[in-house]
Amino acid sequence: MSSLLKLSLLAGVIAAAGGDAIHAIEARSNAPVCPNPASLLSLPDPPYSNYFYSDCNVAAQAVITSPLPDSNLSIIGPRLIVAWPAGNSGVCAFFAPQNGVNGSLAIELVNSTNEQPLNPVYDAPSKGNEFPSVGIQGILRFNSSAALTIPILGSIRMIRDFTEGPSLLYPTIQDAVTFTSNSDGSATLNRIWLDNVTSTKLTFAPNGTNSKVTISNKTLTFTAGDYLFSAEMDYPQLSQLQSSAVLNNASTDLTTKMLDQTSALSFLSYSEKLLAGAWRFLTYFGRDSMISALLLEPVLSYGNGSSMEAVIGSVLERVNRTDGSVCHEETIGDYATYTNLQQNISSSAMICDYKMIDSDYYLPILMERYFVENAVGQNRVAAFFNQSSGINEANRNLTWGQLADINAERIMRLAAPFARDQKKENLIHLKEGQVVGEWRDSEYGIGGGRIPYDVNTALVPAALRSIATLTRHGIYSKRNNWTQVADVYAQIWEDNTLSFFEINVPQAKAQSLVESYANSSFAGPNQSNSIDTNVVYHAVALEGNNNQTKVEIMNTDDCFRHFLLNTTDDAQLTSFLNNSATNIRRTFPAGLMTSAGMVVANPAFGEDPVYAQNFTTGAYHGTVIWSWPLAMMAKGLERQLGRCEVTSNVSVSSHSKQRAARVPAFCTDDSVYKNVRTAYNVLWDNIEKNQNQLSQEVWSWVWKENDFKVTPLGVIPPPGGGSQTESDIRQLWSLVFLAVTRNSNYQ
Ligand SMILES: *[C@@H]1O[C@H](CO)[C@@H](O)[C@H](O)[C@H]1NC(C)=O
Ligand SMILES: *[C@@H]1O[C@H](CO)[C@@H](O)[C@H](O)[C@H]1NC(C)=O
Ligand SMILES: *[C@@H]1O[C@H](CO)[C@@H](O)[C@H](O)[C@H]1NC(C)=O
Ligand SMILES: *[C@@H]1O[C@H](CO)[C@@H](O)[C@H](O)[C@H]1NC(C)=O
Ligand SMILES: *[C@@H]1O[C@H](CO)[C@@H](O)[C@H](O)[C@H]1NC(C)=O
Ligand SMILES: *[C@@H]1O[C@H](CO)[C@@H](O)[C@H](O)[C@H]1NC(C)=O
Ligand SMILES: *[C@@H]1O[C@H](CO)[C@@H](O)[C@H](O)[C@H]1NC(C)=O
Ligand SMILES: *[C@@H]1O[C@H](CO)[C@@H](O)[C@H](O)[C@H]1NC(C)=O
Ligand SMILES: *[C@@H]1O[C@H](CO)[C@@H](O)[C@H](O)[C@H]1NC(C)=O
Ligand SMILES: *[C@@H]1O[C@H](CO)[C@@H](O)[C@H](O)[C@H]1NC(C)=O
Ligand SMILES: *[C@@H]1O[C@H](CO)[C@@H](O)[C@H](O)[C@H]1NC(C)=O
Ligand SMILES: *[C@@H]1O[C@H](CO)[C@@H](O)[C@H](O)[C@H]1NC(C)=O
Repeated sequence: MSSLLKLSLLAGVIAAAGGDAIHAIEARSNAPVCPNPASLLSLPDPPYSNYFYSDCNVAAQAVITSPLPDSNLSIIGPRLIVAWPAGNSGVCAFFAPQNGVNGSLAIELVNSTNEQPLNPVYDAPSKGNEFPSVGIQGILRFNSSAALTIPILGSIRMIRDFTEGPSLLYPTIQDAVTFTSNSDGSATLNRIWLDNVTSTKLTFAPNGTNSKVTISNKTLTFTAGDYLFSAEMDYPQLSQLQSSAVLNNASTDLTTKMLDQTSALSFLSYSEKLLAGAWRFLTYFGRDSMISALLLEPVLSYGNGSSMEAVIGSVLERVNRTDGSVCHEETIGDYATYTNLQQNISSSAMICDYKMIDSDYYLPILMERYFVENAVGQNRVAAFFNQSSGINEANRNLTWGQLADINAERIMRLAAPFARDQKKENLIHLKEGQVVGEWRDSEYGIGGGRIPYDVNTALVPAALRSIATLTRHGIYSKRNNWTQVADVYAQIWEDNTLSFFEINVPQAKAQSLVESYANSSFAGPNQSNSIDTNVVYHAVALEGNNNQTKVEIMNTDDCFRHFLLNTTDDAQLTSFLNNSATNIRRTFPAGLMTSAGMVVANPAFGEDPVYAQNFTTGAYHGTVIWSWPLAMMAKGLERQLGRCEVTSNVSVSSHSKQRAARVPAFCTDDSVYKNVRTAYNVLWDNIEKNQNQLSQEVWSWVWKENDFKVTPLGVIPPPGGGSQTESDIRQLWSLVFLAVTRNSNYQ
């Protein structure tokens, strides 16, 4: 919506800059009255303090950073960030002590007179300006005199290019900031976006007798004291879903039982899309929103305007109409205009990134969950798929139904070669020239592999099953023989892909590998005496760095098969589940379990020492713990155990139900069944022990006092040196424990 609206405004009159700070700050009374109370959330995370404010007029997050005595002062300095989901926009101001050394200046947000850290700002649309100027205000306290050294006004992506990139600043952006002293003693920074219409303003008004702000040579200086800051912009806001509208009726009790998580979910949920994380990713990400929706489905709202439809609609809206790829990340707002300008295109149209390969497959799986298995979704098919694309200009004149067809055509096309001939070349590879393509999307994520495990052994066959089912339910319009073909393909992909990735390490060799790993890379016990069988696991990818045919990293990606597929080759399923359960149960480095959580990667069984060098406690996808894979593994094991309880006399027509009605052989193999059930309980005991971490995206550990002690990933240097990227205080896919709970029947 935003970019289309913006286009119609290009001829509009440019909003007046600065000069009206008092009006801006005190103009709350003219704001439309909201039907629901404002939502406020404060999340301290020293040296960061996070504040969220949202009502029906504006949603924004403020992050105040102030160095701690032990902070690394070349990374952590006094900083204010305000981020809006609308347009993925933001302002950022770096401060420096005026008379002291780094570390001597501390800043903090103090409560306003109404006892709240943040209050809304609303400036009604004025002449030539279609949208109100909205934002937040609060009182910022400086303990000593300060200078505003670097302001960045416009897009969060520009702020991230500065904070995460090599301190990149764009002259076209920086030079456009104007500095104005106002008659009331306040000072305003203002920037008109590259669309020539939108403006972002940041104002500081002295809020105490000793407070004084002055502008000289494009630098603001402040005496020690309190300042009322206000950050606002006149870009169209998204439509936020209230907590009650994000969750279905049966789950509204969560808003009291898990208030922090439901507030965060609401802040990230809009009728246009769900956002991936705050503050760095307050925008659409395909994989994040679909994995979240698959796990959160039992508690999300259904129907028109629901969070479930927001996710599926946002993905369809952004499908590449030419080849059916799902969009990974969108570029919108000022950064879209900037990126378009680099191609000599004068436009603010959204740009999509299609480099990921896994996201294509989540779409039909999620569509089946909602439009086939959910009673509300079943009745929404016609209305939903007839909707026309709107936000993404590239897909104008296509309906969501047509875009769903194009995506399914892609999957059928890519799956066909392997269905015909089961050789490695026919497996799904990363896109040409890309080193990432699925969720382990960091430099060290899949060890340079080209053929990822999760995509080939789980996502492709699960998507094919869903395409068959959706076609039977009349959801894809054109290709009716998909009903048979997709199921035939799926069976081949289910039964013939695992073997390419399987690694079988004889017991004695496995013991010596963990012993040498512990000698070189781990301070704790090597656990070699817990290895009482061959160790069998699946490579995280094929064709890795250093000519490795298999990237020998034990990993948690078995969870995708457990969660997404009910396979029928009994011999394969029994041993797969058994080995997977054993690897979950065993303590690191013999397996994946640590008292700080289950690690997503274990390099101990990799024969090339470079594995241990790259997959470390400081690597984003190294020997670290992620929240959502814990949830997917737990739910996946539960689903497999659930197959043992199905009564086999249900007479149903649907293929998936027929498959589900068949009790797999592992259920009657006492030792395997028990092993899976034990793994389920070991995992849940561990999840419960790490309750306090679950809302984080990822965390790490150090070996101390004879145990794995939880440690923020941010304090451990990454492999290869450099510093860690700042993390998001809340991520969408780390809220999935709202819906994933322990099944006490298996205790
Ligand atoms: C002081 O802070 C600035 C800005 O954060 C940083 O660039 C510089 O490296 C710091 N200097 C020292 C000595 O830490
Ligand atoms: C701000 O006000 C809240 C109540 O809204 C209170 O709980 C909190 O302690 C106050 N914070 C400070 C720093 O005074
Ligand atoms: C904004 O105005 C400049 C100067 O008139 C023009 O070159 C540019 O194309 C305009 N930008 C957009 C996105 O219309
Ligand atoms: C400080 O700001 C508040 C608004 O949050 C206002 O009510 C108060 O009068 C201001 N105080 C001074 C001294 O400017
Ligand atoms: C103003 O700032 C610029 C860039 O920061 C600097 O090069 C210049 O010397 C400054 N001028 C004065 C008068 O301080
Ligand atoms: C869509 O896919 C086609 C074919 O792969 C490609 O040429 C095109 O660049 C993609 N579109 C975008 C916007 O990336
Ligand atoms: C798209 O639809 C609009 C109105 O529905 C129509 O005016 C326009 O010509 C169509 N464009 C294309 C490329 O079909
Ligand atoms: C380890 O990482 C480095 C740097 O990315 C790479 O050159 C090397 O091949 C990696 N080794 C493996 C086995 O992934
Ligand atoms: C399915 O339909 C496609 C084209 O619509 C055709 O090329 C293909 O042979 C058909 N496959 C089967 C198994 O019927
Ligand atoms: C990988 O194989 C290529 C071609 O066989 C060879 O040139 C290269 O040296 C090998 N690299 C390593 C790290 O072994
Ligand atoms: C597999 O079977 C379990 C137990 O019946 C069920 O909960 C799950 O939804 C099924 N999964 C699929 C993909 O059909
Ligand atoms: C502080 O951060 C810088 C930049 O990342 C790094 O080079 C330096 O080693 C760090 N200092 C300490 C004491 O960790």
